[in-house]
Amino acid sequence: MNISRLRFAHLPTPVEELPRLSAALGGPRILVKRDDQTGLAFGGNKTRKLEFLVAEAQEQGAKMMISAGAIQSNHCRQTAAAAAKFGFECTLVLTGPLPERPSANLLMDKLFGARIVNVPDRKNRDRVLKETFEKAASEGRKPYLVPYGGSSTTGAMGYTFAIEELMKQDVRADWIVFGTSSGGTHAGLVLGQRVFGYPGKVFGISIDESEEWLKSHVSALSSDASERLGKRIDFGPDDVLATDKYCKAGYGVLTEAEREAIRLFANTEGLLLDPVYTGRAAAGLIDLIRNGFFKKEEVVLFLHTGGQPALFADGYSDLI
Ligand SMILES: Cc1ncc(COP(=O)(O)O)c(C=O)c1O
Repeated sequence: MNISRLRFAHLPTPVEELPRLSAALGGPRILVKRDDQTGLAFGGNKTRKLEFLVAEAQEQGAKMMISAGAIQSNHCRQTAAAAAKFGFECTLVLTGPLPERPSANLLMDKLFGARIVNVPDRKNRDRVLKETFEKAASEGRKPYLVPYGGSSTTGAMGYTFAIEELMKQDVRADWIVFGTSSGGTHAGLVLGQRVFGYPGKVFGISIDESEEWLKSHVSALSSDASERLGKRIDFGPDDVLATDKYCKAGYGVLTEAEREAIRLFANTEGLLLDPVYTGRAAAGLIDLIRNGFFKKEEVVLFLHTGGQPALFADGYSDLI
């Protein structure tokens, strides 16, 4: 195995029963894995990835972390926290209009001392990110590029080992359901399922990407990530289960479906979802249950990937 890892996530994350949600939906048994409780600046799925990404940055002798995302990116908030914790400089390339008063994730980025490079129009993001990286490198700042969403083969390792964790917790659900976007969580889970022989299916609910893109991107990432474990496994698009039925409104657009999901989880279980990722994933889960997608006797594990700070972001709190 060719993988270095730091240990700062709060693991294993708990797995809880959601009986009142299940009763409200007349559905199967529902469990939740609380990866919103992984630690590091309110937790979320990026903590597991960052255990591997920060280790790689240290090994490469990096002194700075550079990443990119939306203004309210959870990934960037957690990357900035990790950079502060391990003594890296941090620059974040954030797309979308920069608000006058920072709230939620953006407020935390600043508290962690990250330098913000704003790109109002997303189409310029890749170019600005590249220029920012090259400038830092030419100044001798030794930057490490944390890819979008932390979704490299290195980051994906976090979720490969999350499957091992589930096996050790003796949680064998028929389905693992979660929100998928840049694909690192998804790819790690698909690889972990194969490597550790997890009996359940891994089913990603797309937040913003097409099913076709997810199937080809995630299968390629899982295949490449497998080499880190010592032996290549070739995954094809058909090895990846995903639906893009619930993301038609576009990234970050809150519709009645997300609102209902956020309210239902809060009212029945005292559990908070976020407006962009877990709210949308849960809206998909609710719809699938209502449409009889799961068998009554099956067990469904909802992987809570975090993101709740966005509940308090200007632009969302008033809409929820
Ligand atoms: C809360 C939350 N859930 C899910 C995801 C999607 O994870 P991935 O990018 O690994 O597909 C993200 C990505 O930023 C996120 O912030």
